[in-house]
Amino acid sequence: MLLCAAFAVFLHVLLQTSSVTAVSWEEWWTYDGISGPAFWGLINPEWSLCNKGRRQSPVNLEPNKLLFDPNLRPLHIDKHRVSGNIMNTGHSVIFNVENDTRHHINITGGPLSYKYQFQEIHIHYGLHDQFGSEHTINGYAFPAEIQIFGFNSQLYSNFSEALHKAQGIVVISLLLQLGDLSNPELRILTEQLDKIRYGGEEMEIKRLSVRGLLPETDYYMTYDGSTTMPACHETVTWLILNKPIYITKQQMHALRRLMQGHAIHPKAPLGNNFRPPQPLHHRPVRTNIDFNVKHPAEGGKVCPSMYRDVHYKANSWKQH
Ligand SMILES: *[C@@H]1O[C@H](CO)[C@@H](O)[C@H](O)[C@H]1NC(C)=O
Ligand SMILES: *[C@@H]1O[C@H](CO)[C@@H](O)[C@H](O)[C@H]1NC(C)=O
Ligand SMILES: *[C@@H]1O[C@H](CO)[C@@H](O)[C@H](O)[C@H]1NC(C)=O
Repeated sequence: MLLCAAFAVFLHVLLQTSSVTAVSWEEWWTYDGISGPAFWGLINPEWSLCNKGRRQSPVNLEPNKLLFDPNLRPLHIDKHRVSGNIMNTGHSVIFNVENDTRHHINITGGPLSYKYQFQEIHIHYGLHDQFGSEHTINGYAFPAEIQIFGFNSQLYSNFSEALHKAQGIVVISLLLQLGDLSNPELRILTEQLDKIRYGGEEMEIKRLSVRGLLPETDYYMTYDGSTTMPACHETVTWLILNKPIYITKQQMHALRRLMQGHAIHPKAPLGNNFRPPQPLHHRPVRTNIDFNVKHPAEGGKVCPSMYRDVHYKANSWKQH
């Protein structure tokens, strides 16, 4: 009995030690405490943009300060389904597309000058419904946010290279709202959550339609920013779609059951994995919503005119 207890203690120490030696920079940041977002830039010199950067993400979006830009096109994402892995990284839940996919999902249009290739999906969520999203709208946080990452496949050969290069990354952001019926593709992702309960666990996901995750809207907001995790590279073109998608209470519950650590040392529940909004520092946030037009989707309501603040339109008379 005593021997058994001694062995258990030894095993515990051994596992602790091995996990310490195996530690990489990746594990040196968190979402709270002395390794939380306010300190990311101080922990590792390579992450200094997290503190010094002036084009950081996420941001708080203020609908009455958006600029209508008539040059913005509809966003295009290929329809076909792809397989990959869903992983509990201890920081987030990440779906990674199979590397040898022959038919890449291309992302084009919108504000993008290049063709981007879909790479991964990140899920940020709160342990309570009042917060969870990274982007906020007029200070309002959503219970979760799904971020769809692509890399510039015309200039760069892979995602990791593009992460720190100019025009490297696009992220399409979906804000999640609680509802009785979930988006069906979201269900494909959350169905496997009980198999990745602990940090480091992963599970195969088959035939996911990334396009199917998107809400039914052509409208979006866009701005230039950064990744929201270290190293906070300022290489991201953000698109925030203008309608939420829905997630059920049960799915939120399944997310909140995930743990940050391994089965032996599960640490805290995974969640509240959002970086707070960063200052815009005079960056424009553009939109393809023309506020002077009646929107059938909004019940034919005429939205307040923004003409006064729309600088793009100010030059158009020169063409006549
Ligand atoms: C694809 O490759 C990257 C790095 O090369 C790896 O991190 C990722 O887990 C791989 N994805 C899958 C689904 O195997
Ligand atoms: C996506 O782009 C690649 C590279 O340009 C191309 O080979 C592929 O056919 C495109 N995929 C689809 C579904 O159009
Ligand atoms: C990504 O591309 C760069 C540059 O071509 C290369 O050095 C690197 O090994 C590639 N990384 C992966 C994970 O394939």
